[in-house]
Amino acid sequence: MARHAFPRSFKTSYLEASHGEGIYIFGTDGKKYIDGCSGALISNIGHAAPEVAEAVAAQLRKLEFAHPSRWLCGVVEEAATLVADFAPKGLDNVWFVSGGSEAVESAVKLARQYFYERDGGKSSKSITIGRWNSYHGSTVGAMAVGGSMARRNVFSPIFLESPKIAATYCYRCPFGLEHPSCGLRCGHQLESEIRRIGAQYVTSFIAEPIVGSTVGALTPPDGYWPLVREICDKYDVLLIADEVMTGCGRTGRNFAVDHWGVVPDIIATAKGLAAGYVPTGAIIAKDDLLDAIRGGSGAFMHGHTYNGNPISAAAVVAVMKYMKEHQVVENVRAVEPVFAEGLRKIEAENPIVGQTRGKGFMWGVELVEDKKTKAPFEKKVAAANVATKECIEQGLIIYPGGGMIDGVEGDNFLFALPLVATKAQAREAVERLAAGLASAAKKLL
Ligand SMILES: Cc1ncc(COP(=O)(O)O)c(C=O)c1O
Repeated sequence: MARHAFPRSFKTSYLEASHGEGIYIFGTDGKKYIDGCSGALISNIGHAAPEVAEAVAAQLRKLEFAHPSRWLCGVVEEAATLVADFAPKGLDNVWFVSGGSEAVESAVKLARQYFYERDGGKSSKSITIGRWNSYHGSTVGAMAVGGSMARRNVFSPIFLESPKIAATYCYRCPFGLEHPSCGLRCGHQLESEIRRIGAQYVTSFIAEPIVGSTVGALTPPDGYWPLVREICDKYDVLLIADEVMTGCGRTGRNFAVDHWGVVPDIIATAKGLAAGYVPTGAIIAKDDLLDAIRGGSGAFMHGHTYNGNPISAAAVVAVMKYMKEHQVVENVRAVEPVFAEGLRKIEAENPIVGQTRGKGFMWGVELVEDKKTKAPFEKKVAAANVATKECIEQGLIIYPGGGMIDGVEGDNFLFALPLVATKAQAREAVERLAAGLASAAKKLL
């Protein structure tokens, strides 16, 4: 049969999904797989929850669409209230979009418009500083602030580059330092970069609180987020937390910034927000930002046809209610030790596992050829793909990535179950991972 939907890669052989249930996806091959990466850290409440399907179907029957430039809609307001309540105190203004890239674009544009309105149309601030080894989406604006080297190479000539500082890659510190004696050099680099460019030109700094797909759950030292908050305040620069992956309970807090008690000016979120049931994202912003627009031109000069649509809103309401009723964030904290201990053991025993890291239900594994020297596998070996294939043999799906060392070398993957997994299911997933990585090590060494 001819296939007309072209695949993500012509060089990969794909499983075909039949249906899902909880943490499992069933293939048309008749096998049952643990969705060990929640799709791409999106299926937070697991697959095929009837509560969400019914809520979306009911909204479809009632009203499928009413354009936000002409209509307000009760279900959108209900969703926004739930999201604002879930967000850190002080972040009360919600703007819904269709996914993570749109959320990032919206955040970057809101930051620019805020200064434009606040300074009477005369602001010179326009630049967003990003970080290397970060991923903020696939659209041209999101790629410009992103620093996923492997994904940028082909497209960098078509976007307006944003300045970047280093990520908190302690395992391979770009300054050759060690925490804590480093004094958080990577965080202080933000201040040097702002001063170098001139604060009068910088609107914002964007970063993932825990880096997702680029480096595999890169978790910063505890002082990092408070430090970048302080620097942003000092230079009148907005702090944008890209919580597209880390948000909505994934790391054991509502949003990952909650681990450090930091309140950004804008959160960009998506994935877990509607948990894969409907394409959805959002930005959540502080009052000051909206006050400037309210008292200025009166409108955020930005919008997509689907922003604030009732179907996505119905899914958000249903997912938020599900999370509360099933105490999903509490479950993440209760089950986290199974992953933490299981991965520590794998790291100690498996010869190709250089480092495991993460929080809650967001774990990354970095693969190396030599644990002592941290030497990576050659790119042509495609170690993360080998590991993925061996895990699939064990009935476990993981999310491979690579190129984080220099844009070419480096292998990692994300291991991140739906947040509803029980301790027993988490144990089983860890066992399958250990077995998959043991056979990957045999193949690779
Ligand atoms: C941190 C982060 N930001 C933004 C995005 C882009 O989201 P989307 O694919 O929904 O556009 C992603 C997607 O993986 C992400 O992980």
